[in-house]
Amino acid sequence: MQCQKELFQLPSDVTYLNCAYMSPLMKQVEAAGMRGLAAKRQPYLLKPHDFFEPARQLREAFAQLIKADTPDRICLIPSVSYGMSIVAQNIPIQQGEEILIVGEQFPSNYYCWERLTRQSQASLRIVPPPEVPHGRGQLWNERILQAIGQRTRVVAMPHVHWADGTSFDLRAIRQRSREVGAWLVVDGTQSVGALPFHLDEFQPDALICAGYKWLMGPYALGVAWFGPHFDQGVPLEESWMNRAGSENFSALVNYQPHYQPYARRYEVGESSNFILLPMLLESIRILNEWGPEHVQSYCQALSEKPIATLRRLGFHIEDAGYRGAHLWGIRLPTGLDVQQLKQQLDQQRIYVSVRGNAIRVSPHVYNETHELDKLVGCLYDFVKTHA
Ligand SMILES: Cc1ncc(COP(=O)(O)O)c(C=O)c1O
Repeated sequence: MQCQKELFQLPSDVTYLNCAYMSPLMKQVEAAGMRGLAAKRQPYLLKPHDFFEPARQLREAFAQLIKADTPDRICLIPSVSYGMSIVAQNIPIQQGEEILIVGEQFPSNYYCWERLTRQSQASLRIVPPPEVPHGRGQLWNERILQAIGQRTRVVAMPHVHWADGTSFDLRAIRQRSREVGAWLVVDGTQSVGALPFHLDEFQPDALICAGYKWLMGPYALGVAWFGPHFDQGVPLEESWMNRAGSENFSALVNYQPHYQPYARRYEVGESSNFILLPMLLESIRILNEWGPEHVQSYCQALSEKPIATLRRLGFHIEDAGYRGAHLWGIRLPTGLDVQQLKQQLDQQRIYVSVRGNAIRVSPHVYNETHELDKLVGCLYDFVKTHA
């Protein structure tokens, strides 16, 4: 895959290595949003069909991305917290059972479990990252597998950790969780779009994704996939659009006891958002053309040499098998101040995030080799002046 910088509008003096924070907007995606905005100048042209068709196309495009065979198992959500709340509301859990999450998980995949376990007198089991300099990812995965037991009711976790890209072996975790009858709920926000995620391979019970990072869409629109456990579940709200036959605007007050099929009962109200929805549709279509496996290999080719150099300089970076190529953390040699380093990076307009004691680097197909070299150069200078 070639560099796709020309599809974006990033200034040439900006080194943007922070897609895990928020993706930049592609020109085509921006244009789709502009068209949606302008359409409201002429509401008389908007037909009932326009409320449903783009959403259908979006479900289809996302189904293609994750290789799902029933697009109606996908629904539109405004945020991960919303999607996780749907899951939490529909999980039968009892006193003494456990919900298992990994340490330092993103808050939208923590608070709903904290509340659910408190209310149901179940317990929240958190598997923290091991404090070891080497082999941390492998050990963390082993500890997660060991922690899943007969009391585990749900395992709710990401594919790669948002703070430093540590990747989790969802296949093994699925197998173990199934052995004990636990549900697997995946937050795909930091992986889906940039790291292949095939439903068949991981067989989660639910997959929840924000749209504004690796799906490269706008803020405030995401997607969720729900498996058969959720087919008869209770939605968070009762949108008229989610009821059977809502396409017929003249019969909306013939109130319907039945929902649209599968996960469409969970779709957020006003899901036909005429600005955001076409944007996310456009970005997912582009991702389907690229293929997440090519995004991943592009990022890998970009990062390989810089990572080797950084290791020689004394920085710690997770082994390749236990981190994403699109998202990785750099831990500093002892004695160096991460905030001071961040200031120097900011001065050079190198955009990364600080998460805990690590610098989080998250490149994409708009990045080029010289940008990673600039990052390495800055880290090199920092070590030389502060070591
Ligand atoms: C792993 C992960 N999940 C979810 C989110 C966003 O959550 P929400 O859509 O609830 O704001 C983020 C944002 O950084 C994230 O990193």
